[in-house]
Amino acid sequence: MRNYEVDATWHYHNGTKHPNGMLLNRFHVYHPSHRPTPYKIYKNATSIELSLDKNPIGVLTLDAISSQESFDNVTPDLNTLARILYFSAGITKKIKFSGLGEVDFRAASCTGALFHIEIYIVCGNIPGLDAGVYHFDPKNMRLDIIRHGDYRGLVIDAAANEQSVREAPIILIFTDVFSRNSIKYQARAYRHTFWDSGTILANTLAISSAHKMPTRTITGFADSYIAKLLGINSMQEAPILIFTLGRSEHEISTMPPLFDTVPDSTSSDYDIEYPEITQMHDASSLLTPEEVSSWKKPFSTKKNHQDAYIQLGDNANSSEPIESTIIKRGSTRKFSLESITLEQLSTILNKTTQGVNTDFSVNGELLSDIYIIANAVDGLEPGSYYYVQKNNSLEKLRQGNFRNASGNLGLDQDLPYDASVTIFFMIDLDEILKHFGNRGYRVAQLDAAITAGKMYLASYCLGLGATGLTFYDDLVTNFFSPHARDKEPMFLIAIGKKEKPT
Ligand SMILES: Cc1cc2nc3c(=O)[nH]c(=O)nc-3n(C[C@H](O)[C@H](O)[C@H](O)COP(=O)(O)O)c2cc1C
Repeated sequence: MRNYEVDATWHYHNGTKHPNGMLLNRFHVYHPSHRPTPYKIYKNATSIELSLDKNPIGVLTLDAISSQESFDNVTPDLNTLARILYFSAGITKKIKFSGLGEVDFRAASCTGALFHIEIYIVCGNIPGLDAGVYHFDPKNMRLDIIRHGDYRGLVIDAAANEQSVREAPIILIFTDVFSRNSIKYQARAYRHTFWDSGTILANTLAISSAHKMPTRTITGFADSYIAKLLGINSMQEAPILIFTLGRSEHEISTMPPLFDTVPDSTSSDYDIEYPEITQMHDASSLLTPEEVSSWKKPFSTKKNHQDAYIQLGDNANSSEPIESTIIKRGSTRKFSLESITLEQLSTILNKTTQGVNTDFSVNGELLSDIYIIANAVDGLEPGSYYYVQKNNSLEKLRQGNFRNASGNLGLDQDLPYDASVTIFFMIDLDEILKHFGNRGYRVAQLDAAITAGKMYLASYCLGLGATGLTFYDDLVTNFFSPHARDKEPMFLIAIGKKEKPT
């Protein structure tokens, strides 16, 4: 099976490392004035306006991101669906830039503000909305109608009869329009596919939890079946994950025939393909429901750790509702050099690693390991640390002032130098690929990004700032070795106090 020929992943992964990956052209330039339209436009589709209530429903951010409750059966209505879509991928602010005009910013962070992830909805009849396949248009807060009728049976088939899909009144499907991001980041953009899906998903999970919705994230599905259902061309736009929302007693069994056509659309006004991206996507695709079925076996981590040195709590308080945290979130553009407290760091680590219901991990366990450079944390000596998730504690790796290293690892930017902490998600990729094949690359990137997305939310509700960052891959491994000797970095997030505008 092609999925288990994992040289494809190593070729892609090594080839897209900073600074010298052979699949990246160091002289590539991107000018923001070439930014593609960050919206997919369905020209002739009929659409349904979404009414939006942004008011808090009374769940605090730290509860929404950490809840492990298994909620009762519930079918979301259209207004709840509208809120979940808005707080996942809606427009939360607009900023004017000279030469560029006004840029719409979204609920979740996204590399380069290129907003290449689209969301589709496949549902049965729910209160306020007929069964159908829809595309979420965040610009106009409406749903474009792609197909009429109940198509969930096709998703059930593609996901090899996965139980949560069988029971879901609503299924969200995230897709990626590759060229919208690769115009700036070249082939490395395929990593961003999962980084930027993960940050959105962190919001989707939090707001769904606030609405007491059972959810599950599914990464195993027959790719081409879903692409066909959505009517998308997989060379330009590909399905990335399936997310089930709500649960009903009525299992779906019918499978309507596919219509021939879907309304015309424009995914991107920049159409240069990066073959390395489509090759990596193909190599990690699952072809049939039978292949999905044999692929599906969650991974249980065997994380070894020393006796923990520093026991953490999770006592930092925040009274910020999830909705207002999402609305005020943004990536910090300048950190002050001030310290955060150990309580704040502990709360961020503990509340964001409580687990996510997925088809790839056991009990929602995070597959990545978390490594930290503490530059300025009151109550913690500056140095490098390993976070022991099992008992919420820190193992000290090296003591010292590593601000320079922190800045250097984060692509020599000021942000990781100035931040109070830089947090690196690292994984034994070889082990993951042996288990999941090339598909494991998608899983590994997404797993880290979901937790990092939650860290954005935790930081903002505590009055701190955060930003995702890119990194020099091998330097990160070297820095945390020998502890991290066999691990590859998947995601980097910097957290600290925002510099106050003067
Ligand atoms: C995974 C990830 C990596 C990022 N890398 C960088 C980076 O290296 N440098 C930087 O200045 N911003 C970086 N950003 C921040 C984005 O530019 C920012 O999210 C985007 O402009 C959207 O703005 P917002 O997060 O304020 O909504 C990154 C964001 C993410 C999610």
